[in-house]
Amino acid sequence: MSELEVPPISIFYRRDGLDPGPALGEVQRGDAVRRVRDFWLHRVGEYWLVTRHTDVRRVLADQETFAMYDPERSPVLPDELLNMDPPEHTRLRHVLTPEFTGRRIRALEPMIRTLAGELIDAMESRGSAADLMDDFALPLPLGVICGMLGVPDPDQGAFHRWSRTTLDLGLPIEERLAAGRESRAYTASLVAEKRRSPDDGMIGMLVREHGDAVSDSELVGVCELLLLAGHVTVSNTIGLGVLALLSHPEQADRLRNAAEGDPVIDGAVEELLRYLSVSSTALARTARRDTEIGGVPIKAGDQVVCQLPVANRDPVLGAGMDLLDIERKPVSHVTFGHGPHRCLGSTLARAELRIALPALLRRLPALALACPVEEVPYRVNNEVYGLHALPVTW
Ligand code: HEM
Repeated sequence: MSELEVPPISIFYRRDGLDPGPALGEVQRGDAVRRVRDFWLHRVGEYWLVTRHTDVRRVLADQETFAMYDPERSPVLPDELLNMDPPEHTRLRHVLTPEFTGRRIRALEPMIRTLAGELIDAMESRGSAADLMDDFALPLPLGVICGMLGVPDPDQGAFHRWSRTTLDLGLPIEERLAAGRESRAYTASLVAEKRRSPDDGMIGMLVREHGDAVSDSELVGVCELLLLAGHVTVSNTIGLGVLALLSHPEQADRLRNAAEGDPVIDGAVEELLRYLSVSSTALARTARRDTEIGGVPIKAGDQVVCQLPVANRDPVLGAGMDLLDIERKPVSHVTFGHGPHRCLGSTLARAELRIALPALLRRLPALALACPVEEVPYRVNNEVYGLHALPVTW
């Protein structure tokens, strides 16, 4: 592909290392809500870019005024929760919520801890250098969500490859759609198998307890979203989180030396979620009626995109929001979105991060970058920000 054919990075996805792109901060400091003409997914259009924390929360919370559903917007993952409005969204969310309660996730913690320990053992047994993304950050959440949904081990790699292609905004849309079709066909066969003989995993349970209330295509859409959202987001937060901590060694030491139950562990997880905000946007909403955001008039039918990383650094949240401070009093970040579509997997994500990051730092106290920091390859122009690789030694 020549340089000219590479799609430009739209303003919604611009980053500068661990920071949001400077153009986004300017919008927040200036007019707060700005009309932009740019790429959204695969098409150019006019959108309202919303950057202030209060406005983002209002848009995401107000389902009466801002709808999700736009069939043209999400060709890559149709028929899943993020494309639904009430009553379908409410019904499906109700079916899924019990699977993600604090109690359910606490029961998974020993399995997450064991998997994290085994991955570190395997890294150590191979020497004293690794790509932390391939050897730890990715297989941990992938193994957890695939285990929950009953995806056999040999198929996990293929699922990861499809996800990587569908989320890469720099690839031609045909390639992304083709990967989406393959992953849907795979998920459909998985769901069909669990319908025939429901097991003890989450899909088997959904089939047994809600089989009549949930259609096959809804079940496929939900499982595909869980498999994808359940690993890409957490793996990239682990990768970027380790990079951020290695760049702030005194904070890495504080976390490494924290005893089990020390509040700094939860504090570090919240602060890294806020500071890194791997999901650049909450998906676009469509105004159902004439309204306003921050005093700017918005017309019925207008599209609105909430930019989460810059909203998470809004000075209304406190001082020094551009800095990482794991001992900061936690703030109400919007990394998991807000309102009715708020992340279903946030408790699971937090548990994985709370286990993974201290385990790595404690088991590998000499953990260090194995390349100059400016050579770390970022996933630019991606639905989920993060790293392609993180070369480390210990
Ligand atoms: C660091 C990790 C994660 C981040 C940053 C994240 C971020 C988000 C965001 C921003 C949304 C809302 C999108 C919107 O309103 O348009 C969302 C929704 C969702 N997330 Fe996550 N997520 C993470 C982990 C997970 C995990 C581990 C799972 C599942 C196991 C998951 C499953 C979902 C689902 C199913 C939805 C859709 C909820 C709905 O539409 O009702 N996420 N996530």
